[in-house]
Amino acid sequence: MSEFVIGASAGLKPVMERVLQVAPTDAPVLVLGETGSGKEVIARAIHARSRRAHGPVVRVNCGAIPSELIDSELFGHERGAFTGAVGTRKGWFERADGGTLFLDEVGELPRAAQVRLLRVLQESTIERVGGHETIRMDVRIVAATHRHLENMVAEGTFREDLWYRLSVFPIRLPALRDRMEDLPALAAHFAEHAGKRLGGPGLTPTPADIELLRGYTWPGNVRELAAVIERGAILGNGKRLELAAALGGPTVKPPSRPPIRDADEIVTLDEATAAHIRRALAARGGRIEGPYGAARLLGINPHTLRARMRKLGIEWSRFRDPSAPEPSMQPNR
Ligand SMILES: Nc1ncnc2c1ncn2[C@@H]1O[C@H](COP(=O)(O)OP(=O)(O)OP(=O)(O)O)[C@@H](O)[C@H]1O
Ligand SMILES: [Mg+2]
Repeated sequence: MSEFVIGASAGLKPVMERVLQVAPTDAPVLVLGETGSGKEVIARAIHARSRRAHGPVVRVNCGAIPSELIDSELFGHERGAFTGAVGTRKGWFERADGGTLFLDEVGELPRAAQVRLLRVLQESTIERVGGHETIRMDVRIVAATHRHLENMVAEGTFREDLWYRLSVFPIRLPALRDRMEDLPALAAHFAEHAGKRLGGPGLTPTPADIELLRGYTWPGNVRELAAVIERGAILGNGKRLELAAALGGPTVKPPSRPPIRDADEIVTLDEATAAHIRRALAARGGRIEGPYGAARLLGINPHTLRARMRKLGIEWSRFRDPSAPEPSMQPNR
């Protein structure tokens, strides 16, 4: 994948400004954006513009770690550390030493791994499983997710302390539909490549092609655009782009929410209720009553809300935003 970012001086200009600000530092970066919006492209751009550019960039898919292997994945293991550990294996941190560790889909990180990860981030040292030596690490973290991490923190599925650690410098990628000015350049880039991949010359979208592409909302963002153009090139036998057919094709389907993968993700109704109330309180700066209070947001009576909060052990003061106006609307205590 190239580090060349299309739209860097147009729709992604504000994003690239943030990239250039943070790249030379060692601060952790959190890249947020919808699926296919280019999070990995941005993560690699940060690495390429950092003082670590000549070091490794190691991408790990946080959703794909079997929980029994977490320690070994992160820290590596010594030979014979456990059954099956036939050789010494370096973990993510050691492999990324002197470079960048790209934690992709960080929202999918299992709870146990979140704890471990936080520890390494705080101490900058690791010990291999079955090893006795403490190894100092020099690793820059770039994390990415399409999930709403703040909500996950409020719901208790993502550790708050880890979130603070990772969210020092968030970079939010706009969806393609919100930066359609980049569409012609992206389409030209993908058409050129699609034509060549099919063994012919690079293809060029016509103005009519661009118009057609502009009429679509791109739920799958840049990745979907690349796929549509590739399909169009195949349908046109590598000689032209058949975009109308490519867009109408059977495979263009908005992605659905990721399914709940296992029963561990299901919390009790009380926990879910508590998380929901906390989100409402956070959104309203801790205010309960009044037109801008959490009770109104939740569609219940303020007395009912207070009673529920007491029952669920929710402290409203934790959510109080000192800048929120109308202190008289705060609950009496
Ligand atoms: N600004 C861009 N310039 C050039 N290519 C891009 C750009 N943005 C995205 N792409 C291309 O679109 C595809 C999707 O990008 P990427 O993998 O970075 O998305 P993502 O946000 O990580 O997606 P997901 O959430 O599904 O992992 C890749 O093939 C990438 O090269
Ligand atoms: Mg990605």
